[in-house]
Amino acid sequence: MKLKIAVLPGDGIGPEVTKQSVKILKAIDERFDHDFEFEEAIVGAIAIDRTGDPLPHSTLELCKESDAVLFGAIGHPKYDNDPAAKVRPEQGLLKLRKELGLYANIRPVRAYENLLEHSPLRPERIAGADMVIYRELTGGIYFGEKSTSEDGQTANDLCTYSTYEIERLAHLAFKAAQKRKKKLTLIDKANVLETSRLWRKTVTNMAKEYPDVSLDFLFIDNAAMQMVLDPKQFDVIVTENMFGDIISDEASVIGGSIGLLASASVGFENALFEPIHGSFPQATGKGIANPVASILSAALLLDHFNLNREADVIRKAVEESIKLNVCTQDLNKNNHYSTEKVGDFLEGRISESEHHHINDNNLTIGQMTII
Ligand code: IPM
Ligand code: MG
Repeated sequence: MKLKIAVLPGDGIGPEVTKQSVKILKAIDERFDHDFEFEEAIVGAIAIDRTGDPLPHSTLELCKESDAVLFGAIGHPKYDNDPAAKVRPEQGLLKLRKELGLYANIRPVRAYENLLEHSPLRPERIAGADMVIYRELTGGIYFGEKSTSEDGQTANDLCTYSTYEIERLAHLAFKAAQKRKKKLTLIDKANVLETSRLWRKTVTNMAKEYPDVSLDFLFIDNAAMQMVLDPKQFDVIVTENMFGDIISDEASVIGGSIGLLASASVGFENALFEPIHGSFPQATGKGIANPVASILSAALLLDHFNLNREADVIRKAVEESIKLNVCTQDLNKNNHYSTEKVGDFLEGRISESEHHHINDNNLTIGQMTII
């Protein structure tokens, strides 16, 4: 398949991890004889430094004309600690989501058998947890009218949703549930918010079209508690922008490291793939960032174009690396590998022949050769 991929490494550890996922996509390209083309552009703090704009026009144009965007991370402490800053790196990402119409943010979360001990939650609670969060991404309080009164004493963020926005996301979530355990949970705050009541009414009406999916509801406060008490109860979650932002960070602790969580943001015409972690400025340039979230985002990119066999090859390689403890220091304190080495290991596994049979001996040798 011919694919043009815009690569936006961004800030902090973004460039280091994105370098690894591009390497992995190139290995897939080679092995399966595709025709992937990559073009880089700037976004975030680095783009503000160079152009004054967190999303320069040329970057947006490149994303629009590409088949997919591979995104790293954005953010810089100099903006986080300055509430008066007029331009912020995050504005680049928000504008990109809006301009590309990426209304659905899809975040799969699961507990890896070999990483149960890494989660702050009890292993028996999280073993077997496997869910996917469908977060609305271009509406709600993130994009509503904002204002601050002239005296600076009052501020406003308006939260608005239309049935159209709810339905287009919920259809994707219902369809995903049909392919999984057939359970959909709507997370809202319908006991307080008018927008949440619209979500509940709209999604309830839609459920008739999906009789094989069982639909239930949780208020966000209860859902936040359920996520740590009994995450196994979730299959597919659908929720609005702000609640999805919060609940997906919370869910990330189930996987043992936020450095493992990938996401896909899709619209009718465009699609963007990014790790859910941020730019982790303290780790920049140290080679300690976990590249797996970015690499699994590349797998979601392949899934998006129905290259599921290719995506599975990546996921299988990641599972092997975890099993063998070929991991960065967030997952392997004593004998860790650098960002680059983890990428090299995965690249090696992917480039090997399709019919390669794994045995422990081979795996150990594979691990040794990359140290
Ligand atoms: C995310 C991030 C972003 C968000 C920030 C960086 C604007 O937290 O993708 O979850 O809030 O959506
Ligand atoms: Mg977030």
